[in-house]
Amino acid sequence: MFKGWFRRRGAQDAKDAAANSAHLIDLRNIVKTFESAAGSFTALKGVSLTVDRGEFVAIIGKSGSGKSTLINMVTGIDRPTSGDVLVAGTPVHTLSEGQMSIWRGKHLGIIFQFFQLLPSLTVVENVMLPMDFCNMYRPRERRERAMQLLAQVEMTENAHKLPSAISGGQQQRVAIARALANDPPILIADEPTGNLDSKTAEAVFKLFEELVAANKTIVMVTHDNDLARRASRSVIVADGEIVNQYLANALPKLSLDQLITVTRQLDRLSFAPGQPIVHQGTPADYFYIITRGQVEVIIDQPGGGEIIAEVLTQGQYFGELGLLDDNTRRATVRAAHDGGDVEVVALDSAEFHALLAACDGTRADVERIAGQRRSNGMAA
Ligand SMILES: Nc1ncnc2c1ncn2[C@@H]1O[C@H](COP(=O)(O)OP(=O)(O)O)[C@@H](O)[C@H]1O
Ligand SMILES: [Mg+2]
Repeated sequence: MFKGWFRRRGAQDAKDAAANSAHLIDLRNIVKTFESAAGSFTALKGVSLTVDRGEFVAIIGKSGSGKSTLINMVTGIDRPTSGDVLVAGTPVHTLSEGQMSIWRGKHLGIIFQFFQLLPSLTVVENVMLPMDFCNMYRPRERRERAMQLLAQVEMTENAHKLPSAISGGQQQRVAIARALANDPPILIADEPTGNLDSKTAEAVFKLFEELVAANKTIVMVTHDNDLARRASRSVIVADGEIVNQYLANALPKLSLDQLITVTRQLDRLSFAPGQPIVHQGTPADYFYIITRGQVEVIIDQPGGGEIIAEVLTQGQYFGELGLLDDNTRRATVRAAHDGGDVEVVALDSAEFHALLAACDGTRADVERIAGQRRSNGMAA
């Protein structure tokens, strides 16, 4: 996890990396250390995260866990101590301040908890500001476009008021219109509903859902777990690290602290199509969760030949049976032949048993699955 902490890379390397990224947002091994008189504090400890076009990602986690620091890397509001930040093909962390603010104004819409409208400008002037700043759209089109955006968020009648004359929920709608001014592909929101009552928060969230349906990509930090569940994916940040989402989904009874501990223990492994991961008859040593692709569970036949007993896919786990029973693999598991590389995360035997001992709910879940597989004779 801490690999690459001290590696220094040049701007050209970062540009090459950006050209190679298939993701709209690609954070690679980000470390952020704040230096202060009191000493240094590492708020992000080597996190990696990708977001693809059209996703609606919720970032959740306790206060102080590093959520704002993480999204400030994407917006370029702050820079990583090490690691690469690639957004829409641009290595954001290598831009100068001047380049950064123009780039940000064109590619990102940013929405804050406290709206941050300019108090001395009217609502419509606030919405025009990003167009003026980035010199987008012809000057005489800007007011009309701002009015259209205000209509979209149902703020037309407030267009000529000052921000102080409208409610918090209304100010946040205006801030969303402002974020959309230059038609950016990505919206980044830091606790956008954190200062709103639940009814107003719901209305703002509905707007986000409509924007995702209209092809925007949204990354939203939120304290509200009910809202987070309605996003297409949740990313849990804890203590400057990202909890492995496949682990969290596969073993949902683990507490947040247990998820952090186990995430740190996971080994990441990759297998070429057709390559075996475990062999029937050999000692069992690891528990596996599939994070990409599919695997085939194969039972070797006494007379030679094999039966593909089951195909398991991303998010499912295997290898628990051998660890629970007599420590011998009952089946061979290999990366499926058709498809790309298979990626798994693995937990060793001692870590697996410690985990089951620490969480009764997880033990019960894993034993139930193992029991079903044992009776089918189709597992490793
Ligand atoms: N500019 C800074 N200087 C020093 N410490 C900071 C700074 N910004 C954030 N931190 C620390 O980094 C940690 C993560 O902060 P933050 O990302 O704001 O958390 P969150 O958004 O999850 O509440 C906190 O302990 C915070 O005190
Ligand atoms: Mg925050």
